[in-house]
Amino acid sequence: MSDPGSTGDLDAVVHDAAEVVVGPAEGAGAEAGAPPPQADELLERHEDAAVAVVDGRVAAAGPTEAVTREYPPENAAEAVDAAGGAVIPGFVDAHTHALFAGDRSDEFEAKLRGKTYEDILAEGGGILRTVGAVRAADDGTLLSNLLTHLDRMLAAGTTTVEVKSGYGLDVETELRMLDVIDRADRRHPVDVVPTFMGAHAVPEGLDSGEYVDRVVEDQIPAVADQGIARFCDVFCEEGVFSVEESRRVLAAGAEAGMAPKVHAEELTHLGGTQLAAEVGATSADHLLHATDEDVSALREAGVTPVLLPGTAFGLGAEYADARRFLDGASWDGAAPVAVATDFNPNCYSRAMGFAASLSCVEMGMTPAESVLATTRGGAAALDLDDGRGTLGEGAPADLAVLSAPSHRYVPYNFGETTVRTVLKEGERVHG
Ligand code: NIG
Ligand code: FE
Repeated sequence: MSDPGSTGDLDAVVHDAAEVVVGPAEGAGAEAGAPPPQADELLERHEDAAVAVVDGRVAAAGPTEAVTREYPPENAAEAVDAAGGAVIPGFVDAHTHALFAGDRSDEFEAKLRGKTYEDILAEGGGILRTVGAVRAADDGTLLSNLLTHLDRMLAAGTTTVEVKSGYGLDVETELRMLDVIDRADRRHPVDVVPTFMGAHAVPEGLDSGEYVDRVVEDQIPAVADQGIARFCDVFCEEGVFSVEESRRVLAAGAEAGMAPKVHAEELTHLGGTQLAAEVGATSADHLLHATDEDVSALREAGVTPVLLPGTAFGLGAEYADARRFLDGASWDGAAPVAVATDFNPNCYSRAMGFAASLSCVEMGMTPAESVLATTRGGAAALDLDDGRGTLGEGAPADLAVLSAPSHRYVPYNFGETTVRTVLKEGERVHG
């Protein structure tokens, strides 16, 4: 441990935690064909532990006695008594469509009565309905909607979130959405990572090929000029954008400096996963209908798979099997899988804890794996390599203190959050 005086300001000391989860243990991974590993094989964690934060970064995480001897809480700008709760890295929610307007709660009911997502979209509902509401909303409304969602995410332990555009489908509204996402990022403690998703749906009056021309020729150059979006995503799906159309969008996005992401095999199997591998996408997301070959292709190409169990829950669809992504894969330097909320009007949950619960009960993860997938996994899916999603030395001190003694409570305690206090870069921002 280094001398705090020589390294900067002691921002915070979180002490007397029952457990501090630092991140993946060295050599963490799951053997193919063997039972899933125990928490201690997967997690670097300490019991009766503390975290010290210097200049917004983790300076030390370890036994309370050792950490507080070096970094006395009384010298810290913020002393947080974890009071026997667990401390985990803040969640990194790597897939949301959290900026929208309007109300689609009636579609939830229509789906319960047997309508499919595709039926609703074909009738002008779904994404296109939200497009109408977003085009009609002023910037102030959009910003205040997003800030409200970010408040709720933060209170449930999320400290970094990706937000996609894609409810504009024209140059003006796509730029407006990205601008609001950027303003929310500056205004709110949660870090917001912006993704351009002009290719989210085909607007009325055009066919998909004609609309892809508009995305490639008009939207992508304007978005590149604006300089906000980090990623370019596409809904590669039967009846939306073909593999060939998706390839065009991603190539133009990459040329303009936006790394590719793909909504792949969500409702049907079309080939978006192989495309993600081919173009070296940062992530391939959904994957409900991915095959074994798809899973291998992602692994070989170093594409992070992002599973979104809330979407399957909301659609009443079959869940992805997380073991196919985890078994035989290692957490060393990479992440075999991420889990995110997919928060959007069709999947109305902002809580990463609920996604973790579904990951365990419906997708076969262990609690330790679900915690890694919602923290370190999310960071990998956003290509954030500053230690985010862990509490390793030097990582941004983004953390959640739980009102429960173990990381297991993240998935175990469903339907409510166990998060009591949140620190963002060492500053108390919730609780
Ligand atoms: O990830 N699949 C496309 N996009 C979203 C749904 C967006 C919406 O229905 O508004 C998704 O599920
Ligand atoms: Fe999505």
